[in-house]
Amino acid sequence: MPGFELIGKEEEKEVMDVLATGIFMRYGFATERKGVFKVKEFEETFAKRCRAGHSLGVTSGSAALKVALTALDVCPGDEVIVPAFDFIATYEAVLEVGAIPVMAEIDESLNLDPGKMEECITPQTKAVIPVHMCGAAADIEAIVKVARRRNLSVLEDVAQACGGTFRGKALGTFGDMGIFSFDYYKTITTGEGGMIITDSKSLYDRSDWYHDHGHDHNPNVGRADEGRSILGFNFRMNELQGALGLAQLRKLDFIVAEQRKNKARIKEVLKSVPGITFRKMFDAEGDTATFLGFMLPDEKSARAFHGALKSEKVDAIYYRDNAWHWAPNWEHLIAHATANSKYFPFSIHKGKVRYDAEMIPQSDRLIRRTIFFAVPVKLPEEKFASMAAGITRAAKSL
Ligand SMILES: Cc1ncc(COP(=O)(O)O)c(C=O)c1O
Repeated sequence: MPGFELIGKEEEKEVMDVLATGIFMRYGFATERKGVFKVKEFEETFAKRCRAGHSLGVTSGSAALKVALTALDVCPGDEVIVPAFDFIATYEAVLEVGAIPVMAEIDESLNLDPGKMEECITPQTKAVIPVHMCGAAADIEAIVKVARRRNLSVLEDVAQACGGTFRGKALGTFGDMGIFSFDYYKTITTGEGGMIITDSKSLYDRSDWYHDHGHDHNPNVGRADEGRSILGFNFRMNELQGALGLAQLRKLDFIVAEQRKNKARIKEVLKSVPGITFRKMFDAEGDTATFLGFMLPDEKSARAFHGALKSEKVDAIYYRDNAWHWAPNWEHLIAHATANSKYFPFSIHKGKVRYDAEMIPQSDRLIRRTIFFAVPVKLPEEKFASMAAGITRAAKSL
């Protein structure tokens, strides 16, 4: 699954270029850096690969979400629609800009359901964040269509699907902005890190300024003399992250190709499981194959199979019980327990917002039947054989 499986000489070489200059900051130090601009090069290569107009490296996927929401002018009092099956960072980023995350249903792709999403729109709704969960695309064209009709901004969260496409077009390029994560577990990694892409020069500029204390990055003056028009903060990517990103990006096609092979092999074994169906793919060819998701006929059989896999020492994820990826499990969110004693932004929110499973019956039914495998990049023959034997034995116990 993650790029850390392949850290090697290529990453070492890129990082050594940076260590040789001693300049870790992406800006300034024109003489000392001796022409080494790793973050800039990483951004340019990334944008080219995605066919996006602009890209900006930042410190994490969570930072990328916050910077992008800020660029989109999502404000206190606004609502942002997010799927119930998600990593908590998306919800946190919405709260970070003072807006309210509104939990919406997923469909059989286990991503945001475009039809149900429309039912969540209120006069306060400003944006929607389709999250391409577990490596595969949401019904992104349909989501963008609804959003355009209802005048909402679209921020695609591609943290878990770097390298994924939908009908040949890179995920992250369908909406107004797209974000990626390069944390330790992601398809490519810079240790921690993130990227924002957009075709809009003004959204890029606002992101660029905000992520670096408002600096306008005027190339004709020194850093101390740069202008500013908005206040910002510090979410700058550093040169070591840029160096790792460059080396990892060159491996992305290989990583995805290996995962696809391994996923296909595991899927073949799973076909013997009684009653199994597989996660719906809107475009199987664009799947990064980071995960393999499947459903059993009901919660009882899903729990039984998950338990049997555990006894066979085959790692599998039952997200219904997961603490970080299933919104109705987030007791602190349900309690509106933001990290300030005034419960901001819930305290200024006009509407009523709920995060319990009763709000999303379709998603609740789906997730109770669903199991995931993380697909490795490297799957040696003996590991595959023991996994296959474990799955087959677990299937017999059903
Ligand atoms: C869907 C999703 N969005 C955002 C993030 C946040 O990324 P990071 O860990 O780089 O902050 C993650 C991380 O797991 C994620 O899975």
